Amino acid sequence: MFILAVSGSAIGLGNIWKFPYITGVNGGGAFVIIYLICIFSIGLPIMISEIMIGRKGKRNPITSMEILGIEETGNGVWKIVGFIGLMAGFLILSFYSVIAGWTFHYFLLTLQGLFIETSAMEVKTVFNQLTQSIPKQLIYHSFFMILTVSIISKGVRNGLEKAVYFMMPALLIIMCILLYYSITQGNFSEGVSFLFKPDFSIITASTILVAMGHAFFTLSLGMGCVVMYGAYLQDHESIFKTSIIIILCDTFIALFAGLIIFPIVFANNLDPGAGPGLIFQTLPLAFGQINGGILFGALFFALISFAALTSAISLLEPSVVWLIEKRQIRRSTAAILMGLLIWTMGLFTILSFNNLSSFVFWKGTIFDNIDFLASNILLPISGLLFTVFASWFMSHKSSKRELSDTTTLQYNIWRFLARYIAPLAVIIILINFIGVF
Ligand code: TRP
Repeated sequence: MFILAVSGSAIGLGNIWKFPYITGVNGGGAFVIIYLICIFSIGLPIMISEIMIGRKGKRNPITSMEILGIEETGNGVWKIVGFIGLMAGFLILSFYSVIAGWTFHYFLLTLQGLFIETSAMEVKTVFNQLTQSIPKQLIYHSFFMILTVSIISKGVRNGLEKAVYFMMPALLIIMCILLYYSITQGNFSEGVSFLFKPDFSIITASTILVAMGHAFFTLSLGMGCVVMYGAYLQDHESIFKTSIIIILCDTFIALFAGLIIFPIVFANNLDPGAGPGLIFQTLPLAFGQINGGILFGALFFALISFAALTSAISLLEPSVVWLIEKRQIRRSTAAILMGLLIWTMGLFTILSFNNLSSFVFWKGTIFDNIDFLASNILLPISGLLFTVFASWFMSHKSSKRELSDTTTLQYNIWRFLARYIAPLAVIIILINFIGVF
């Protein structure tokens, strides 16, 4: 089902791992507010635009853009948008797989009871041991990539999407248990005020760009994932309603994760700006103290690994489908080729945490730069072009037809946001950022 496929793609490490960590690095409240504004004013219209393009184009994002470009404007050059997205997807999956590997490692560690009654110091040491070890990360990264590639090769996405249906409630239940822990054992009031009390004086152009980039990242926008899935959306289903549901679920889970993590951070005098290791240095503390911590902890990390898998599949699928159509090769060959390329790129992320950790430039380590370039520059640019195409270049008749199940008000809201607000916001935020480059 479409809604499960897109939720499976949208909900992943972006919600549980990346949102808390970049919120911490960017100072909390004000960042969260900008992120929320971006979700609804930019994310919503772009998601609708991408689904429309997918449902009308019925192919992989590149070919869909080429066909529709020719149909609507007489120019196939629009396929470049698909290529920008594809590149972003490559870069994102290369580090996504490494972090997904971390969560899988934590699943095993928790299962062994390693975190029972541990201190914040010990938990930090365990995390450092992982990031310092190239072989360990290599094994998990390879394992995760092989898993993703084999699922794509077999084309068994369908069954996995059904599993999303059970995974989400399970994840929510464990998150409720964790929230109870954070309320009772954590410094809840400080956590809440960090997350929701804005201090706009610490906001820079770069922070705004990161908040916007994350709106794209967490909703899987800009890369063509949603275009790809839009091709499977049936004509009678409502694009507008489905998009709203997906966005609300995704945002809810991210905020929920924040509400769990920051009270633990402050209760243990940890640094909210600890970076990519934030959840790995906080959640084990909770699992070490609650009743049934081994079971819940292991289940939690297993669920996150699974959520990461459904997202990773959506990151790889469009390029594989494109390669199959373009080169007439077998699905498995295409998946292995793309997988190998991405796996190799992932090595740079692994090295960013050890041997090359002092090799910093522009936005930080190689990992920081790959993430910044893909999430905050490439995704917004291709997302902008998707929405400009759907709202300015697709004929009124075509867009009206795709959104025929919406009310006139909903259609007008989409059109206004997609034509003016989203493009202007993206352009202003990007230009503003270049100004301080
Ligand atoms: N949205 C996913 C997450 O939050 C990651 C993801 C899947 C993604 N597909 C994407 C990000 C496409 C950008 C583009 O974990």
